[in-house]
Amino acid sequence: METRLTKLLNIRYPLLQGGMALNSGAALAAAVSNAGAAGIIASGGRDVAWLRKEILLAHSLTQAAFGVNIPLPMRTASELTAACLELKPRFVSFSAGKPRPDTIQKLHEQEILVFSVVPNLRAALGAEQAGVDAIVIEGMESGGHVGEMTTMSLLTDVLPQVSIPIVAAGGLSDGRGLAAALIMGAEGVQIGTAFLLAEECDTHPQAKEAVRQAKGSDVHLVGKYGSRAGVSRGIGEKFFRDYQELEATHPSEQALLDFFSHVNYRTSVLGETESGFMYAGQAIEQLREIRPAAEIVKNYMQQAEQALKRATQFL
Ligand SMILES: Cc1cc2nc3c(=O)[nH]c(=O)nc-3n(C[C@H](O)[C@H](O)[C@H](O)COP(=O)(O)O)c2cc1C
Repeated sequence: METRLTKLLNIRYPLLQGGMALNSGAALAAAVSNAGAAGIIASGGRDVAWLRKEILLAHSLTQAAFGVNIPLPMRTASELTAACLELKPRFVSFSAGKPRPDTIQKLHEQEILVFSVVPNLRAALGAEQAGVDAIVIEGMESGGHVGEMTTMSLLTDVLPQVSIPIVAAGGLSDGRGLAAALIMGAEGVQIGTAFLLAEECDTHPQAKEAVRQAKGSDVHLVGKYGSRAGVSRGIGEKFFRDYQELEATHPSEQALLDFFSHVNYRTSVLGETESGFMYAGQAIEQLREIRPAAEIVKNYMQQAEQALKRATQFL
């Protein structure tokens, strides 16, 4: 399959594995890239030494393009970027903020592509103007920190206004989502939750099991728009109920930050699913099997091709 995204990254399929803090390391990213899509190492919640080690490991596991995700609110974002400048993943995807034009320029000088993950049109236009190579529009169906717009509304409103390649994310857990996004005019998709069930994903086995058993109605939004802790989507009934109780007390900024502190680590890494909150997206009910990343990619692409062929029958 050929789109502007596959040409940009020299990959077979227009599919990115989204960076997932504390879950997606080199093993997953390289397995996805070796399967013809592009994997992303997530630097969220990690230190620079960890990121350096994982980039080097990924280079040893694959010749294909892989990326690194850097959430810009991280205090160490510039050190993480410096590690990328030196160790050269094919691309860096910045999220939760706009990368500065001089940062983009430095990455370009090292032939590293720059992607920006955005939650709305304003941010997409800002990222395009700053000089990024592609934009990931991430709908609020996604797992993890989310904005307020849905993927379909973003596809509808952002595509006509932006000329660089657009990748759609959020709620596209099976290949029909790629077909739909391509038909809308996107150049590819980014999926996260579906890859939590990859054998190579670092997610704690208990957390994987919670994802495997979750229903769509188990997936909740927790948090307050505009607060520093932001809004996250995931599974964890107790955490969700405790949050609702906290919210009724009109909590301070600090109380919200404290409430969320380390919950991703406790769940993804330590497997505390009873009290924790596992980031996961809404489109979760098709995800019932733990299997190699290559199989996930293959199956996803078969579904996409079938859906695209079916679509032509309507003409
Ligand atoms: C467990 C988990 C952790 C995530 N962490 C990050 C992150 O650190 N940075 C980021 O830009 N996006 C993060 N995301 C979002 C994904 O990169 C991706 O855009 C999203 O999962 C796509 O939606 P889907 O889950 O419906 O497939 C995370 C998602 C999940 C499920």
